[in-house]
Amino acid sequence: MTKPKVLIAFYSRNGSTEILANAIAEGAIADGAEVRLRRAREFVSQEVMANAPGWAEKSAEMNSKYEAPTEADAEWADAIVFGTPTRFGSIAAELKAYIDSLGGIWFQGKLNGKVGSVFGSTSSRHGGNESTLLSMYTPMAHLGLIIVPLGYADPAMFKAGTPYGATHVSAMDTLKPDADHLAVAQFQGRRVTSVAKGLRGAHIVGAAS
Ligand SMILES: Cc1cc2nc3c(=O)[nH]c(=O)nc-3n(C[C@H](O)[C@H](O)[C@H](O)COP(=O)(O)O)c2cc1C
Repeated sequence: MTKPKVLIAFYSRNGSTEILANAIAEGAIADGAEVRLRRAREFVSQEVMANAPGWAEKSAEMNSKYEAPTEADAEWADAIVFGTPTRFGSIAAELKAYIDSLGGIWFQGKLNGKVGSVFGSTSSRHGGNESTLLSMYTPMAHLGLIIVPLGYADPAMFKAGTPYGATHVSAMDTLKPDADHLAVAQFQGRRVTSVAKGLRGAHIVGAAS
């Protein structure tokens, strides 16, 4: 039987969301998935990026490790996991631009019935951690994804994360996800993969054939 295919499409500027993305990939692979890790690209000018020290360098470093997510990646996937740092309590424009680029295959119904899940990072504890994840549920519903939250379905959930998806509080980018946050992200990877496996071959009304 072929492996369930998991696309992890994230944006990260300072590395916290990137670390969670890799932990989700580890969990997914542990549960038998084939994984594509993709980083959404900036679309602001180099002049704008130069205003934030390190942005251009970090971007170039991550872009050398991860391809940009494409329409073909989304079509390929059985499950799509979106990750974003908070931007004013909501999704980063870079990831949103990727989601918006999926309009063509959305119109063809090609995303209906795929599994979807979300994760992210904020600077402060109450700075939009949960609202950011919930803001991503809205386009995911439009895309026809079957949204998989985490609930408290694993002991890791009582130590970190949110029931909506793995998260991290970076304290102005001074903290990286610790073992408790990584455990939540790994659980998310395993859970998403197991749901994708369970749905394989299932008759889902309205799903792409
Ligand atoms: C334009 C902008 C808006 C932001 N808005 C928020 C916010 O509303 N709440 C918050 O806690 N952090 C906010 N942040 C901080 C980032 O979300 C935070 O540093 C995050 O951990 C970065 O993740 P990354 O390391 O994956 O880039 C903002 C950062 C930028 C550049």
